[in-house]
Amino acid sequence: MNILPKISVLAARTRTDLFIIPIFQDRKKKPILPSGQGGEWVKKLVQSECFTGDVKQIKLLRFGKLGNCEHTILVGLGAPPKGDQKSYEFNAWIDSVRRSGAVLYRWMKQEKLHKGLIDLDEFLKSLGKGSDRVAHTFFEGWTLAGYTFLRHKGGGQKKAKKTENFEIFLKTQKTAWKNGAADLNAISEAVTITRDWSNEPSNFGTPVYYANEAKKLAKKLGLKCKILTEADARREKMGLFLGVGQGSDNENRLVVLEYHPRIVAKSKKPKHVMLVGKGVTFDSGGISIKPSLKMEEMKHDMTGAATMMGAIALASRRKISNRVTAILAFAENMPSGNSIQPGNVLKSRSGKTVEVINTDAEGRLVLADAIDYAHKFNPDIIIDTATLTGAVGVALGRHCSALMTNDTSLGLLIESIGYENWERFWQLPIFPDYANDIKSQVADIRNSTNDRMAGTITAGMFLKEFIRDGVKWAHMDIAYTSFGVSHIPYYPKTGATGANVRSLARLAERYQ
Ligand code: BES
Ligand code: MN
Ligand code: ZN
Repeated sequence: MNILPKISVLAARTRTDLFIIPIFQDRKKKPILPSGQGGEWVKKLVQSECFTGDVKQIKLLRFGKLGNCEHTILVGLGAPPKGDQKSYEFNAWIDSVRRSGAVLYRWMKQEKLHKGLIDLDEFLKSLGKGSDRVAHTFFEGWTLAGYTFLRHKGGGQKKAKKTENFEIFLKTQKTAWKNGAADLNAISEAVTITRDWSNEPSNFGTPVYYANEAKKLAKKLGLKCKILTEADARREKMGLFLGVGQGSDNENRLVVLEYHPRIVAKSKKPKHVMLVGKGVTFDSGGISIKPSLKMEEMKHDMTGAATMMGAIALASRRKISNRVTAILAFAENMPSGNSIQPGNVLKSRSGKTVEVINTDAEGRLVLADAIDYAHKFNPDIIIDTATLTGAVGVALGRHCSALMTNDTSLGLLIESIGYENWERFWQLPIFPDYANDIKSQVADIRNSTNDRMAGTITAGMFLKEFIRDGVKWAHMDIAYTSFGVSHIPYYPKTGATGANVRSLARLAERYQ
């Protein structure tokens, strides 16, 4: 359905419109002149003081012919900071390179310049060590910027063909970049799955819809796929998961996707990474109904599940050597004559009873049973992702997701992978004291507190109740990073961002 931007290695006789020249700066913030084509121009532009090579700076020279292209464009990438490429500073700079790539995409789109050419070997030479990562990140920004949700627009497919078919060709002798290009296209495809799922309106995007889509994707990706219906969930005694969907005419679905590595090295046993996602296809709040202002955003309340779908898609495309399982728990939270009511007590799959004091704290109910079920697969770690609380926006805004974990080194690993991909995480505490706030008088625990304090933490503490002893776990609250982030150029101005797909796929790959 989508026409995605593409990165390809240049073949003979490919026709391109636009010659792209990335320009770095030296330590004194002076632009480094390319030794190949275009050097003369850059020199002139620099002399006329209208181009400095700062990040995100763009200079389009229409009808400035170069390398068999009609037009030329210069893209400033700034100066890499000194020292360790794993440092915070380097990651921050490399994200501005990602943003420069995105700005380039937006220019190409605005100027209707569909086919770009880049001298990759020159690009790689200009930076030396670590330049492959910088180039990859630049193209990543470019390709991530190329997404529009056109499905429900008149003439969607036609329009996409005309307006969205952008491609960059890499001129290179380095054969390894065939894989580099393939990886970039895999990233774009995986993030697009997440964005498409998240953006889908709830009248189309029901639990059954996502289960079917997951099945189709599983077939395409070579994943094992099992779908649990409500009858299956009843057999599994998932009283919390079923409780949430009880008021809706749309049945719940629980999707289990399995990726198994093909080649298993004898020396290294693969780790098993479990990804659990909240898939509330619409969150009206239920009987504890939400106010109508921005309620339309609650079509995105299944983005945790969408993110895990994207992550397992990317991990499997990369043929990683760890095992990955994703559990996507879909339910719709609606008020009706059948809905659960505040004060109801539900029994979870784990056997713990839960007093529902607020039917709008439904995500943790859905996840609790999914997390308990996840233990059945004997994973080494369980990661859950959810648009879980409004409170995370109050605490952290839109610039990072909340992270809670019971394992220090897992926390450090997630943070560092997060910086690498500029999907930032900030840890919140799991002090046992917080669990006092979800004690219940009538059941084992309750699903919310009766004040508005530490809402994100108490939600995480609720989930922790369902993690069995000795199991490593991390929880990500992505309510304010997974949609509606308008200021980052490689995210769409509105709707889903697709954030955290890249980090989760890396985590699945690297955990050991
Ligand atoms: N899906 C919401 C959280 C949310 C809010 C996500 C805004 C994205 C944007 C969640 O189910 C919810 O309603 N949480 C309540 C919990 C409360 C009732 C304890 C909240 O945050 O208000
Ligand atoms: Mn809710
Ligand atoms: Zn919700």
